[in-house]
Amino acid sequence: IEAQLGNGPLVGKRVLVTSGPTHEPIDPVRYIANRSSGAQGAAVARALSALGADVVFITGPADIPPPDGVSVVCVETAQQMSDAVDAALPVEVGVFAAAVADWRVSSASDKKLKKSRDGLPELEFAENPDILKRVAHMESGRPALVVGFAAETDNVIEHAMAKRTRKGCDWIVANDVSPATGIMGGSENAVILISDEGAEEWPRMGKDDVAKRLAVKIADALTEQ
Ligand code: CTP
Ligand code: CA
Repeated sequence: IEAQLGNGPLVGKRVLVTSGPTHEPIDPVRYIANRSSGAQGAAVARALSALGADVVFITGPADIPPPDGVSVVCVETAQQMSDAVDAALPVEVGVFAAAVADWRVSSASDKKLKKSRDGLPELEFAENPDILKRVAHMESGRPALVVGFAAETDNVIEHAMAKRTRKGCDWIVANDVSPATGIMGGSENAVILISDEGAEEWPRMGKDDVAKRLAVKIADALTEQ
């Protein structure tokens, strides 16, 4: 409502959000992918938009529709997502919530692979571009605030802190996705926000509430600058 009145804290701010999985083709009918419903990324985009931001929402093939009121760019592969991010720059804030496939099949076939021709297919892999790391290290045109996500199954804080340093981003939103938590694919999330101030553990709450709290924190960080 604030934003509709034109006075939300993020009015006039351009932000980009990556979301969903990427699909990396093996052949025209098969692909490899990460597990991701796209729910958390969509919720973050919706929450930023509700605070008045101009949101470019760059999404892989997700289970759920994109939020209203954002500019949607649909992509399939990590390379396409990376190109779409470049096209969306410059932005004040980049939130990288996508579950990008780390590898693509460099030996992808443009014809459907057939069973039992020559035994099992031998797939060759190449590493995908690390979109977050690349943007976070930009010498010119880097967003003022770069936020990554980290889904971990063990030693969450330790891994996420190391990831923040390695990626060069300002914040990491870390969560424990080990099967026992039931978070993967669910409507709730329990996150730890890693910044230069350390680790801030948020209580378990709905993904929409995580998104709202993150959007408010982003707005606060921008106004503090
Ligand atoms: N990410 C990205 N591009 C990639 C891989 C990851 O932009 N090619 C972003 C994700 O969107 C997320 C963050 O980097 O914000 C962390 O992703 P994650 O898969 O946890 O990190 P990796 O460096 O790939 O480490 P891991 O070996 O744990 O998968
Ligand atoms: Ca990864």
